[in-house]
Amino acid sequence: MENRKLRVGIIGTGGIAHSHMRQYVKFDDVEIVAGADLVPGKAKAFFEEFGLTDVKCDYKDHKEMLDDESLKLDAVSICTYNRQHMPCTVYALKKGVNVLLEKPMCVELEEGLEIMKAEKESGKIVSIGFQPRFDPSMQLVKKIIQSGVLGKIYYIQTGGGRRRGIPASSIKTTFIEDATGGIGALGDIGCYSLDMLLNALGYPKPLTITGYTSNYFSTNPKTYESRGCPEVAKKFEVDDFGAAFIRMEDDLIIDFRISWAINIDTPGDTLVLGTEGGLRIPSTDCWNGRINGSLKIYHELAGEQTVTEIPIPQSNVDCVEQKVRSFLDAVRDGGEAPVPTSQIIINQAILSGIKKSAELKEEIKVEIPEI
Ligand SMILES: NC(=O)c1ccc[n+]([C@@H]2O[C@H](COP(=O)([O-])OP(=O)(O)OC[C@H]3O[C@@H](n4cnc5c(N)ncnc54)[C@H](O)[C@@H]3O)[C@@H](O)[C@H]2O)c1
Repeated sequence: MENRKLRVGIIGTGGIAHSHMRQYVKFDDVEIVAGADLVPGKAKAFFEEFGLTDVKCDYKDHKEMLDDESLKLDAVSICTYNRQHMPCTVYALKKGVNVLLEKPMCVELEEGLEIMKAEKESGKIVSIGFQPRFDPSMQLVKKIIQSGVLGKIYYIQTGGGRRRGIPASSIKTTFIEDATGGIGALGDIGCYSLDMLLNALGYPKPLTITGYTSNYFSTNPKTYESRGCPEVAKKFEVDDFGAAFIRMEDDLIIDFRISWAINIDTPGDTLVLGTEGGLRIPSTDCWNGRINGSLKIYHELAGEQTVTEIPIPQSNVDCVEQKVRSFLDAVRDGGEAPVPTSQIIINQAILSGIKKSAELKEEIKVEIPEI
């Protein structure tokens, strides 16, 4: 690729596409050449916000854009709602284009496997948009867990979420309808809490899942009255709360919960219990990688029960910039995806497994075929 600019397109020009674009326009080695959105005129207006008037964007969908061989695309950002992640990614890979795919990877495990198959066949890369990975706080959690200071880790309590924070309004319901979002709080923010720990642990595999989901708040018009959009309740078709007991390989248990709406301040801190020490990570929103308060390790020293506090590093790392830049560097150098599908498929298997177990109201076995 030498010194030429990378030719990049955007599929889906809604909310998160803005955050991708704010990065791309910073980089001298990137040229934004195309964009597509299902809503006529939306992509054009999007590019105009960035002062770009000559980007090709009069396509009716991702297919029409990816079929345009004159674009000679190196990469696309896929910023569609969840249900369109798999079809857009697979189509891009079949056209020989590298993909930066927003999280969650998809909705169903089978879709994730389709993505991996297409990735393998294409020889291109797919990196999933988990920006918290690039924050020094998350890297500190990983360093502590990987150091072995906790001994054998046998139990993790994690998750998080919001007392009220349903991402829907009178003008935007793509997160909460089954045909677009497909999965609620589980896929939106649950994926981050899982990644914080699973990435630190080297992504062990799940064996069984007992999952639970509910949506008492989001289907109640009263929840939206203060925002003046009670009609949104009728459109809500996914989960606003999820919980699960996940049996992992190597005799590890993950006790997990996540919420967009609950009647408590927080579903709690993350606890990592090991035979030599226990780690407490203060409840975090996770999506931005920040942890509000010191980490604490509970351990025994000279026969005394003691606590070591580890402050969170002060940082001005721009995680979103790192997420996009690391993807572009991998495309340019022919390197590995910075957040690879081989790891995130495990995250997805857990999310999809919780959804499935909740629907069946019974424990399920998790099998992730090798791709
Ligand atoms: N990493 C993060 O911090 C972060 C933050 C917000 C959202 N997200 C993720 O980004 C994704 C999109 O969220 P959003 O808030 O931007 O949603 P959105 O509804 O605002 O935008 C999605 C856009 O994709 C378009 N679209 C859907 N299918 C398409 C197709 N086949 N071809 C062309 N355009 C298509 C829609 O018309 C819509 O304009 C979600 O999966 C969400 O989980 C990630």
